[in-house]
Amino acid sequence: MKSSAPGKIILFGEHAVVYNRPALAVPVTQVHADVEVLDSPRAGIFIHAPGIDLHAELNSLPPDHPIASVILKVFSTLRLPSPTGRRAGDEGGVEISITSSIPVASGLGSGAAVSVALIRALSSFISHPLLDEEVNTLAFEIEKLHHGTPSGIDNTVITYNKPVYFIKGQPMETFKVGKPFTIVVGDTGISAPTKESVGDVRLLWLRDTSNFENYFNEIAQIALIARRSIEHGRPELLGELMDHNHSILQSLTVSSPELDKLVGAARNAGALGAKLSGGGRGGNMIALVDQAGAESVAQALISAGAKRTIITEVR
Ligand code: PMV
Repeated sequence: MKSSAPGKIILFGEHAVVYNRPALAVPVTQVHADVEVLDSPRAGIFIHAPGIDLHAELNSLPPDHPIASVILKVFSTLRLPSPTGRRAGDEGGVEISITSSIPVASGLGSGAAVSVALIRALSSFISHPLLDEEVNTLAFEIEKLHHGTPSGIDNTVITYNKPVYFIKGQPMETFKVGKPFTIVVGDTGISAPTKESVGDVRLLWLRDTSNFENYFNEIAQIALIARRSIEHGRPELLGELMDHNHSILQSLTVSSPELDKLVGAARNAGALGAKLSGGGRGGNMIALVDQAGAESVAQALISAGAKRTIITEVR
């Protein structure tokens, strides 16, 4: 049984979304996590994730291991006794192989994509395929185990593989893209745990609540206008909104010199606007470009120190 899940980018609203403001996120299908679950002649559940050099039997991993926890969660949700007791009387076991082209800890949703693909492949393999809503709920549980107080935006956009307008705790809303547009993603190559930047913003918010509430309100306005612009087929309006959103993220202290450098380089190379995307401090930035200008913006990002770029069309 195979399953694949895309990466994602947040277009607008990161951090403010943790405080119940709306955010927009879209899947990035150029990168993905892939999981295959197969019968195996040897007993036990063997996990192979060459990208993180993991080759282990499930029982040898701590239960809170990011991959073990997904497997255990699937079994407990389905009220199946224990993963190894999957088939009473069956000598054989299971091989799970996990590969991913999504860079880790960089704001592209690598953890959530592995969770979603693994939940789908494993639940289908044991003949209990889950509905999208159930997959999303489970993946959110896993995000909470590993990321403190996540909003749930990553697991949602990745589970549904569609553009989403997301408000924490509210039913998921997708939105239509009136006219496709092109985004260049630039990776600083700096791995920056989202948990830390989210934690730091929380401390600052506690200390300076009214200013931070104002920042979050401004970001919410930007997300609303952005959604309307996308739906009405006016994506060119997003450039200025990205620039504005980035400057507020700087005020939240979640940008970094490297992100600012890439954002500046993209603008100088003709991007219509640019901002960091995701938790910040490292990870990725995004730039809105004319399709024809995408390659030269990507090149400018590499010259400014980006470790890799992805050109993706939002449709
Ligand atoms: O770093 P990412 O792409 O996982 O995004 C985090 C987005 C935040 O708003 C900063 C946190 C969250 O849980 O929504």
